[in-house]
Amino acid sequence: MENPFIFRAYESKHLFCDREKELQRLITNTLSRADTTLIAQRRMGKTGLIHRLFDEIATKQLPILPIYVDIFATRSLEDLVKTISTTIARVIPQKSSVVKQFTKVIKSLRPIITYDPISASPQLQLTFQSEAEQQQTLAELLKFLDSQNIPVLLAIDEFQQIRNYPETNIEALLRTIIQTLNNTTFLFCGSKRHMMLDIFSNERNPFYRSTEFIHLQKIEHDVYADFIERHFRNAGLTTDSEAIDFILNWTERHTYFTQRLCHTTFNLATNKVNIDLVKLSAHQILQTDAMVFAQYQQMLTHGQWNLLIAIAKEGTVSQVTSQQFSRKHRLGNPSSISRSLAALVNKNLIDENPIEGKNTYTLNDVFLARWLGSNY
Ligand SMILES: Nc1ncnc2c1ncn2[C@@H]1O[C@H](COP(=O)(O)OP(=O)(O)OP(=O)(O)O)[C@@H](O)[C@H]1O
Ligand SMILES: [Mg+2]
Repeated sequence: MENPFIFRAYESKHLFCDREKELQRLITNTLSRADTTLIAQRRMGKTGLIHRLFDEIATKQLPILPIYVDIFATRSLEDLVKTISTTIARVIPQKSSVVKQFTKVIKSLRPIITYDPISASPQLQLTFQSEAEQQQTLAELLKFLDSQNIPVLLAIDEFQQIRNYPETNIEALLRTIIQTLNNTTFLFCGSKRHMMLDIFSNERNPFYRSTEFIHLQKIEHDVYADFIERHFRNAGLTTDSEAIDFILNWTERHTYFTQRLCHTTFNLATNKVNIDLVKLSAHQILQTDAMVFAQYQQMLTHGQWNLLIAIAKEGTVSQVTSQQFSRKHRLGNPSSISRSLAALVNKNLIDENPIEGKNTYTLNDVFLARWLGSNY
């Protein structure tokens, strides 16, 4: 039987745990044309949820054309325009009259669309355009989408990436274009919480209060436990609650890590899934990842590495520069701790999350935290 615990791209509703509330809100928002901002820690399941939503739109045959754009790899307005136009070219059926319309729209942009002879997927090349032309192109593309005879849902994943573009007016540009659209709903998704909040809830910025927020949290313990138990049982494997609780605690219910531990456990299981088997799986995962983890040490200064270990051992820390924490882990003076902390946050090794109004810090990678905790 195929492993039901996936930790790669979304496959099906059946292998996807819960998120029903969030799904319903997204559907309601889409149908009522309310734009949404979806924020969560890395690997919590944002992209999975978007695909779950698209799946639901397809199975329920809702009158919506969902389009997914991942802009993680884009570095400039030009890249954004290319990515969006390539995506549009991909979702538009090749033989329809819409293609003609689309080609007309982008002809003025001097692009070359070629269809890959093997995969038949379209490739788009835009010849050089000035910034003004690129802005124009973006507006035309989105207006083209908006003019389809079906409401469009445009999900833009890793949206905070626009903050890394050299152009400074992207937010204003996008906001202005979006305000002219009548038929398109947006789902902005991102994991850089600070940036996403600044884009959407800082009154100085163009997107201020233009969307509804969904903060994707961890899946509830009992709900995830049921899901795990059911999938083992369907494969003829028995579990006990001690084993499942261990899985959920050891991975801190952080979706990707929980999925991966379940995946490895499933591979090793023969009939019973008990705590010994789960511990063995956890150990195997850490051994596999250890090569990567050991390299982090080379990437970091001594101070950063020590701080990483200290936070890993504590799990969650709010007072990183406090005397007590510093003394306990021999971290030195507050200003160098602050610098190390900023570097670790910047390198995406540490996550910053407000809990009850206080900033708290945890390792972004649960397995790295477990590995550091047991090796240092
Ligand atoms: N509700 C769920 N049930 C089962 N598996 C899930 C669920 N949500 C996400 N996953 C799986 O967990 C992994 C991480 O999820 P996903 O890639 O969606 O996270 P993300 O928040 O988009 O991460 P990133 O910030 O790195 O882009 C994926 O393999 C995904 O298939
Ligand atoms: Mg993602």
